[in-house]
Formats: sequence, structure tokens, C-alpha cells
Amino acid sequence: MTEVPAVPVITVDGPSGAGKGTVSHLLAAELGWHFLDSGALYRVTGQACLIEGVDLDHHAAVADIARELDVSFSAADNGEVLVAYKGQDISADIRTEEGGRAASRVAAIPAVRDALLARQRDFLRPPGLVADGRDMGTVVFPDAPLKLFLTASAEERAERRYKQLIAKGESVSLARLLQDIRERDARDSSREVAPLEPAEDAVIIDSTGADIDQVFARVMAEVVRTGLA
Ligand code: DC
Repeated sequence: MTEVPAVPVITVDGPSGAGKGTVSHLLAAELGWHFLDSGALYRVTGQACLIEGVDLDHHAAVADIARELDVSFSAADNGEVLVAYKGQDISADIRTEEGGRAASRVAAIPAVRDALLARQRDFLRPPGLVADGRDMGTVVFPDAPLKLFLTASAEERAERRYKQLIAKGESVSLARLLQDIRERDARDSSREVAPLEPAEDAVIIDSTGADIDQVFARVMAEVVRTGLA
């Protein structure tokens, strides 16, 4: 009998603002693999609740929204990922600070995490997948041959976010961002289901004080060491 080779997956977990998104995109492009932005699924669930008028405290109704989620991803001409809910482009809405807060609240609901599990695993297609999130290595793809956990100090993550938002023309306070990041870290790390924590076999990469080239070089060294490239 011929064995069907398993499709490889590299998981990239860590707190908000650690650079996971940038690193994961670069890695998927470098390897020619698919990319899963699992945070976007939680963000779309939060946004869908706002659109449908569902109270985020009504957990059963939020889980129904997650189960039925009519979401699609496509690439814009400039390479950016466009996210649509029921065919309507909500890419900008889900990336606001408010969108992030709603995502963090719905992500703490166990039935929502359950509802999104199969949908995330559906992204696993040949030749491979780079999966970005919080529980990719611990829950969604526990058999991944390479698990990365990217982190950075809360201060540095707040500063990176501040620069991004200012560049987008949003007026924000650095102190407020730092407070938000600390609160979100606490909520993501203390929830009962799939808390934010490195898998036992994860490689931890602290990007405090490092630029993206340095972090990416470190990541590629791990990819080569694992025999994935
Ligand atoms: O990565 P992000 O900032 O887009 O994630 C948005 C929220 O969703 C964040 O509060 C963490 C949560 N999340 C999660 O709980 N599990 C994931 N796999 C991805 C994101």
C-alpha cells in the first residue's frame, strides 16, 4: 500500500503585535504554502455579531453565528488579503481596535472555538500550511512538525501597533494601546479553553529589539533545521 504523505504545517503562535502576521506571510510566500490567519475568523465572528445585532454576552447565539459564518478570503491586487462576510468586504472593519476587542471576547467562548475548529483544519492543503494564531500548535494542529511561538515585550508590541495605526491616519494614545494589549494578553492567557501558551515542543522566539529581517532569518533557520525547506 502506498502511504499518503501528510501535508506539513508550521504553526506560528504568540500574543498580539509580536510580528506573527508579517512573519507568517513571508514564510508562506517563501515556501509557496497556504496561509491561515485564524485571528481573522474570530474577528469576522465578532463583526458578524455586530452586523446581525447579536449581543456578545449571548454565547449560544454567538456560537450559532460562528457555525454558520459565511466568510470568504481573496487577494487584492496589492497582495493584501480581503475578507468578506456574506459577500460584503469587511477587511477594514475587522482590523480596528474595536474589532480586536470583539474578537477577543468571542474567542473566549468555548462553543465558538469548537465551531471554528473544522473550518481552520480545512485550510490544510498541499503543498503545506503556515497557520498563524494563538492555539495553532496546542489545539488545532498538535502534530505540526514545526511550532513557533513568537513573543515580544508588551511595551514594544504597543509601540509597533501605535506606529501602524498612526501610519493609517488613526488617532490613538500609546498609553491606551499598552493598556489594551495588557488586558487582551490577560484575557487570552487566562481563558479556560485554549489559553495562549506555547506548546511544549514549541521554539520560542523573542523579537524584542529585533527587526523583521533578523526574526525571519531565525525562523528560516528553524525551518531548515526541521528539514521543511
Ligand atoms: O491575531 P488577531 O489579533 O487577529 O486575533 C484576534 C483575537 O482572536 C485575539 O484576541 C486572539 C483571538 N484568537 C484566538 O483566541 N485564537 C486564535 N487562534 C487566533 C486569535
